[in-house]
Amino acid sequence: MKELEFITRRKPATPVPTADEVMKALSSVKDPELGRDVVSLHMIEGVSVKGGKVTFTLNLTTPACPLRTRLEEAAKDAVKSVTGVTEVEMKTGSVVYATRDTSQPGVLSGVKNIIAVASGKGGVGKSTVSVNLAVSLAASGAKVGILDADVYGPNIPHMMGVDTNPEVKGELIIPPVAHSVKVASLGFFYKDETPVIWRGPLVAGAVKQLLTQVDWGEIDYLICDLPPGTGDASLTLAQTVPLAGIVIVTTPQEAALSIAAKALAMFRRLDVPILGVVENMSYFICPHCGKRSDIFSNGGGRKIASEQNVDFLGEIPLVTAVREQSDAGVPIAVAMPGSPEAAIFRDFAFKVAGMVSIVAYAKMNK
Ligand SMILES: Nc1ncnc2c1ncn2[C@@H]1O[C@H](COP(=O)(O)OP(=O)(O)OP(=O)(O)O)[C@@H](O)[C@H]1O
Ligand SMILES: [Mg+2]
Repeated sequence: MKELEFITRRKPATPVPTADEVMKALSSVKDPELGRDVVSLHMIEGVSVKGGKVTFTLNLTTPACPLRTRLEEAAKDAVKSVTGVTEVEMKTGSVVYATRDTSQPGVLSGVKNIIAVASGKGGVGKSTVSVNLAVSLAASGAKVGILDADVYGPNIPHMMGVDTNPEVKGELIIPPVAHSVKVASLGFFYKDETPVIWRGPLVAGAVKQLLTQVDWGEIDYLICDLPPGTGDASLTLAQTVPLAGIVIVTTPQEAALSIAAKALAMFRRLDVPILGVVENMSYFICPHCGKRSDIFSNGGGRKIASEQNVDFLGEIPLVTAVREQSDAGVPIAVAMPGSPEAAIFRDFAFKVAGMVSIVAYAKMNK
């Protein structure tokens, strides 16, 4: 009898956690952007419990998740807090949320989200922002394409370093891939310097052709670089396909702001979600003395975002290397990934991806 008591005391029963307990703990972890827990958002996959060791996968709504580290830590901590858990092995994956219905057949059927980049004024840096957005999203692991919808000055092939003609298979154009991004542009077809005189219907036709006659395949984010203003290309794009949303690029000075507000108002009227405003050429850091100058003033982008009640997506400085890299066909975000400018573009791209997840989630729950 005494011996039995001894054995019981020496070996107290170790609590073994169950998969249900693990899921319950995970259901206390909220995605702060979507406002719901990771279990009901179907972000948890493959929970396995062996003794005290728990293995599972956390699937983010985008590989470019701005809150990635926070969510990973919160999920891991929640599982660790379950009684009996001695080891947690968590993998992180992603299943990109779609704002488009990808169940319908058709050329664009594999494209989950179309993001347009627009501005009121010309020359504010839409194309620069578009290429760096595309390559930053691709570097995060997303499948990305870029469509140069600027029929008047198609310069995306140049900025992406594409100088070959695309392959044509049957009726479809196979987009060349540069820096892991599929590229399509009217620039492929109009190489000489002769100005093309575009009338409204021609512009609409050209944009539609780039959308529907390019074999885009499976794509998480298709970035569309628009010509300046609120003309035919912008209208056609917004009316032909449901857009995940639009990013408005502005420079900081007063003159640019009212025009940016007009562009924003047009997309609102067309029911296109506004993902936010980004301010380009926000400030200049002198490469010689390191001093900052607000050449075009500063803070206008933030002001317009707040007045219009949309998100502010960041300030991009005026830096010689940004222009040089675009001219060399290797956007700075891939050419110099450790630079402060690449980090700024990455933060901006992740904010955009986060906003797209929010729009997609709202659509799924309509
Ligand atoms: N942050 C920046 N730092 C340095 N140069 C920049 C920056 N942003 C844009 N540029 C340069 O300014 C010029 C205009 O930029 P970009 O072509 O991207 O503007 P855009 O809005 O697309 O112009 P358009 O209205 O003609 O299409 C380019 O030479 C580009 O390299
Ligand atoms: Mg441009």
